[in-house]
Amino acid sequence: MDIYERIKIDHDLQREMMDKIMETHGDSDERRRLFSEFKLEADSHANAEEQTFYADLIDHHDSQEQTRHSVAEHKETCDLLDELDEMDMSSAGWIKKFETLKHDLTHHIDEEEEDVFPMAKKLISGKEAEEMAKEFEKRKAIEQKDMCGKSHVRKVA
Ligand SMILES: [Fe+2]
Ligand SMILES: [Fe+2]
Repeated sequence: MDIYERIKIDHDLQREMMDKIMETHGDSDERRRLFSEFKLEADSHANAEEQTFYADLIDHHDSQEQTRHSVAEHKETCDLLDELDEMDMSSAGWIKKFETLKHDLTHHIDEEEEDVFPMAKKLISGKEAEEMAKEFEKRKAIEQKDMCGKSHVRKVA
């Protein structure tokens, strides 16, 4: 498996998780559980991506601008996730804000698959892309271990 296949697995999982959260209502156990799992997934994915995939792409002149753009979008997603984590889940504003996050993150992951991957494939060798997938896996596991228990939702649930 290479880094592109590995990242795509997470993206498909995230698309699925966001659809499920959109179907939840109010301050329910289901919404709390799904959001808590999704936050952990999205944050650890973005961090692992930055530590492996984008850490390499920032060194190539042709992909520097795109890398900065992607990393800025990670920050926006992370901020929205934190805001949602602190918000009252029973308020009408919660699902509205989540919908904004879903829209923005869908755009981000589509762009990674459609624009960033083809660009990266010209700059990263096949062998490097396979090594990177292993490193991504390790980093993501470490990130998840560090983040567990830090979520506001997890604490009150
Ligand atoms: Fe990303
Ligand atoms: Fe991604």
